[in-house]
Amino acid sequence: MPKELIRLANCTMAFDGEVVLDNINLYINDQEFLTLLGPSGCGKTTTLRIIGGFQTPTQGDVFFDGVRINDVPPHKRTINTVFQRYALFPHLNVFENIAFGLRIPKTDPESRRKVKLPESEIQERVLEMLKVVNLKGFEKRAVSSLSGGQQQRVAIARALVNRPKVLLLDEPLGALDLRLRKDMQIELKRIQQAMGITFIYVTHDQEEALAMSDTVVVMDEGKIQQIGTPEDIYNEPKNAFVADFIGESNIIDGIMRADGVVEIFNRRFQCLDKGFAKDEPVDVVIRPEDVDIVPEGQGQLKGTVTSVTFKGMQYDIIVDFYGFKWLIQTTDLSPVGSRIGIKIDPDGIHVMKKSHYSGMFGDYSSYSEEYEEISDADYDPEAEDQEAEHEEE
Ligand SMILES: Nc1ncnc2c1ncn2[C@@H]1O[C@H](COP(=O)(O)OP(=O)(O)OP(=O)(O)O)[C@@H](O)[C@H]1O
Ligand SMILES: [Mg+2]
Repeated sequence: MPKELIRLANCTMAFDGEVVLDNINLYINDQEFLTLLGPSGCGKTTTLRIIGGFQTPTQGDVFFDGVRINDVPPHKRTINTVFQRYALFPHLNVFENIAFGLRIPKTDPESRRKVKLPESEIQERVLEMLKVVNLKGFEKRAVSSLSGGQQQRVAIARALVNRPKVLLLDEPLGALDLRLRKDMQIELKRIQQAMGITFIYVTHDQEEALAMSDTVVVMDEGKIQQIGTPEDIYNEPKNAFVADFIGESNIIDGIMRADGVVEIFNRRFQCLDKGFAKDEPVDVVIRPEDVDIVPEGQGQLKGTVTSVTFKGMQYDIIVDFYGFKWLIQTTDLSPVGSRIGIKIDPDGIHVMKKSHYSGMFGDYSSYSEEYEEISDADYDPEAEDQEAEHEEE
């Protein structure tokens, strides 16, 4: 059974009357890898700072192990932080950088006297941490002689050597190049599992969030948009913002005609979604990889390929359906200008409630006049099909 470790209850944060976190409710389990994901300014760092004790929420409570800790200062929380701009001490070698926190005398809770850790224990714990972060043998090296990834690992070792229950990581891989980032993602996950520590991780990179996390918290505009496993967030996004932010999505206006039946472009599609009102307007998400290309005559929808980009594993093609442009990923080449049909299986369709994000995302068109065509209520896609066929003759 997972055990709850941290809880934010109705937390709101305002600076000079401006609300930057709006009623956040979130719990984090012991030994969980939880990621706060969202665009710049959505409130990720602020949330992390509240958990770390560097900021007190304007309203709401923070609990650790069931105890309210709003007024507990950072150094009295068993929480440690690795910031994006981690500062190693340039004049100390790798060993001393990691040992730094261990050398600070601590107050013994019983005798109330300041006590120092014995040198042998410091030695043992630093060497153990060097092993964990794969830097065995680096202890005498000057930190300035290390690569970016190695410095990052020293910063992580320094944060972990105090054996915190929780590690807060604010975009710790932001400064690294893509290849090193990917290696470090695997490394961090391994460290987290090996040490059984709760990680609360901040990133604006959705791929990174999906790859590393047990739980992803998607944020925007100071609000939590969705909490779930990486699979939940990808397969069952709650609204158009989440669908657009996590991976590529075609998001189309639809009408729910019945349980399991959604209408888009005046055509009915089988889907797995239920529980909407009859004829409720909805947002329909179709992922680029869930669209099958078939000969034009056999398609549920017919469109014209307007652009093709070779991506190695697949082609990204943009297809114009009645003036609305979709992204489709396919291994078969359909050249620009060709007419294609598409089929979508019921499990390739995901229906969402309308939200204030509706209409803002999920169209791969850059032509504004095409929006106007779609919004024309009298517009009949069948008629356009016939026109297109006439043109071909
Ligand atoms: N001390 C402060 N005083 C005033 N406004 C602040 C303060 N700290 C944060 N903010 C504002 O709160 C909002 C959220 O900031 P926050 O740093 O949490 O965003 P973020 O999601 O971490 O963004 P980024 O990805 O750019 O780091 C921003 O609009 C920011 O300007
Ligand atoms: Mg930030």
